[in-house]
Amino acid sequence: MASSEELHKRRTAAVARGVGSTIGSYVEHASGGTLTDVDGREWIDFAAGIAVTSVGNSAPKVVEAVRRQVELFTHTCFMVAPYEVYVEVCEQLNALTPGTFEKRSALFNSGAEAVENAVKIARKATGRQAVVVFDHAYHGRTNLTMALTAKNMPYKDGFGPFAGEIYRAPMSYPFRDGLSGPDAARRAIDVIEKQVGAGNVAALLIEPVQGEGGFVVPAPGFLPALSAWAKDNGVVFIADEIQSGFCRTGDWFASTHEGIEPDLVTTAKGIAGGLPLAGVTGRAELMDAVHVGGLGGTYGGNPVACAAGLAAIETMRELDLAAAAKRIEAIMVPALSDLAGRHPEIGEVRGRGAMIAVEIVKPGTIEPDAARAAAVSAACHTAGLLTLTCGTYGNILRFLPPLVMPEDTLRQGLDILAKAFATA
Ligand SMILES: Cc1ncc(COP(=O)(O)O)c(C=O)c1O
Repeated sequence: MASSEELHKRRTAAVARGVGSTIGSYVEHASGGTLTDVDGREWIDFAAGIAVTSVGNSAPKVVEAVRRQVELFTHTCFMVAPYEVYVEVCEQLNALTPGTFEKRSALFNSGAEAVENAVKIARKATGRQAVVVFDHAYHGRTNLTMALTAKNMPYKDGFGPFAGEIYRAPMSYPFRDGLSGPDAARRAIDVIEKQVGAGNVAALLIEPVQGEGGFVVPAPGFLPALSAWAKDNGVVFIADEIQSGFCRTGDWFASTHEGIEPDLVTTAKGIAGGLPLAGVTGRAELMDAVHVGGLGGTYGGNPVACAAGLAAIETMRELDLAAAAKRIEAIMVPALSDLAGRHPEIGEVRGRGAMIAVEIVKPGTIEPDAARAAAVSAACHTAGLLTLTCGTYGNILRFLPPLVMPEDTLRQGLDILAKAFATA
């Protein structure tokens, strides 16, 4: 087998530079919490492929379901010749997403595609055009979703012009703004009403816990206030649960923690154990406002991905991975808070469930320190712990272990992290 060094040389000659990688090692195989690279080195996985392999890599039920489906048929295109597993995934999504109202779902390939389609649906259903998004938001890399995403570098720089009728409102970011949820919501609503006009707004799109933007958990009351405002003004409230959904935050969906019932929910990532699958789920009257043929795509809801999705959902239920996420939180938060006591550059420990982060600042201030976050992350990589950074300022270390990670592996990872803080 080629070494990572050899593969890197081939990659440099063959793969476009714009596609980056966090580490320079190439993966040979992976399980429920570790990756083994082609050089035989084992990594503890605090990334889960960016919140995807919640049920682990090669989860037994997913492997079996994929094998069975591949033997039956790999593709017919649901828009041409439909099949049961697509319908079954939609039934599961309708049952699992918050709200007991009648729902419909449609399936796609990626998170960005799901977000694009949620916007299409909201515009068609309301006859309005404006879409409100928030500071620090991340919704993808396609043309519309680049416009919805906040951060310029590396996601948007030089890629314009971007789609129109997108407006940005201030997010609740308690560590930085110190505002209560209701006050932060009033600030956002004021911007929307004064700068956009409630009657022009088709949709308000928000991550209940922000992902790439820095694992920002809005202050309590922020999401309910926005949701109530949307309802009062005929605005479609879309929760982007692509990173926070499917047990990641200790419940099936993060919206549940604040008791909100979004009109539409976008899902992807953790839904299918690593196979590409995404969905939009929501109120039947909104979803069905779109004319026949208005939604779809060649591969959307591919049968192999759907079979994997059903198996992943079954695994989440059987192993109660929402409870597992809470157990991970109960181990990580005290350990990280302890670390924060020894390292004043940790300005805040935050997150929900197994979506936890530390924000790195210059001690005694809230000035972001991206260089320190990068140095600690690099030290983790040297020691065999796969960590990710994120945030508008690049100063957040985020942790997304697979929900099936054994406790001793999790604790080993935390030990490596503590040493990285001490030595980097
Ligand atoms: C909240 C959120 N929305 C949308 C996306 C885009 O998903 P994808 O990369 O599958 O297009 C992501 C990906 O990180 C995400 O975290």
